[in-house]
Amino acid sequence: MIVLGIETSCDETGVAVYSGEAGLLAHAVHSQIALHAEYGGVVPELASRDHVRKLIPLVDHVLDEAGLSAHGIDGVAYTAGPGLMGALLVGAAVGRSLAYAWGCPALGVHHMEGHLLVPMLGADDVEFPFLALLVSGGHSQLVHVEGVGRYQVIGESLDDAAGEAFDKTAKLLGLGYPGGPALARVAEQGAPRRFVFPRPMTDRPGLDMSFSGLKTHAMTTFNASDASEQTKADIALAFEVAVAETMAIKCRRALEQTGLRCLVIAGGVGANRRLRRELEELGQSLGVRVVYPPFELCTDNGAMIAFAGYQRLVAGQQVGLSFKTQARWSMETLSAL
Ligand code: KG4
Ligand code: ZN
Repeated sequence: MIVLGIETSCDETGVAVYSGEAGLLAHAVHSQIALHAEYGGVVPELASRDHVRKLIPLVDHVLDEAGLSAHGIDGVAYTAGPGLMGALLVGAAVGRSLAYAWGCPALGVHHMEGHLLVPMLGADDVEFPFLALLVSGGHSQLVHVEGVGRYQVIGESLDDAAGEAFDKTAKLLGLGYPGGPALARVAEQGAPRRFVFPRPMTDRPGLDMSFSGLKTHAMTTFNASDASEQTKADIALAFEVAVAETMAIKCRRALEQTGLRCLVIAGGVGANRRLRRELEELGQSLGVRVVYPPFELCTDNGAMIAFAGYQRLVAGQQVGLSFKTQARWSMETLSAL
């Protein structure tokens, strides 16, 4: 079965073609960074309009690259939530319509399920069950994954998601949007241990996380400083180290508590090199396998939607002629395969 995947939940238009036999045949992402940069964050209405402009040409381009015509597609998967409602509606309407026109089944996919499963794409040796650290712009969750649709959230952020905390901290340091990669870049020039930030919620038991205090800590430190470029780098480093170490502490606890032998890192913040290093060290010390997708599949993309959609379409799931999108949607409500 060959599935076309469409992702439009936020500020990236992503399209991909995944084949059950041959793997990922083509994928392309159009990023809206330049469009939103002058506003310092995503402007939902501009995001929707840009998806309208870019989606069909991107579908054409990806089909071309895969060497396929519409006749070669056996199913269409689109992101149905969570995300920005207007942006989701663009992908869902186009995806559902294409499937209708092409006479193939369509399916709305949960964006976070896409992030969660994509580390398995091209890695035959990643098997259920595993622990997933899902860290994106809107979510920070520790998930006990037993199979497709069998997700138990065992810990999560009580306030800002990890990516959100990166973005907000970068903004207050004047580092622009998107904040995560910008902050990580600046942190490379930081002097280790000039500032040491707390490791929130690690002094008590439990797997929940909280990152908004770190952002406030960065702000008070910055306001009391000389605001030089070096100080910004030092604060960025202290923030990044605190987030990475806090997540490693929570992952260690979750692995010990569940006895799981594999840790999968997914979502945009999974592109952070310090976090990857920290978790790799944890894996070595516990004898646990640590897996993460290639950088370009960490942040939003169509491949993750095509891959997750494939798992469900091939099992016979599909939607009727209508479509539904959800701005908020718990992963735990998904059906198990
Ligand atoms: O998964 P994603 O592309 O979109 C959502 O589903 O939210 O994640 C985007 C988030 C943003 O907050 C971005 O700043 C963060 O991932 N991010 C990073 C890095 N690359 C992207 N955060 C830290 N370090 C990075 N290298
Ligand atoms: Zn995402």
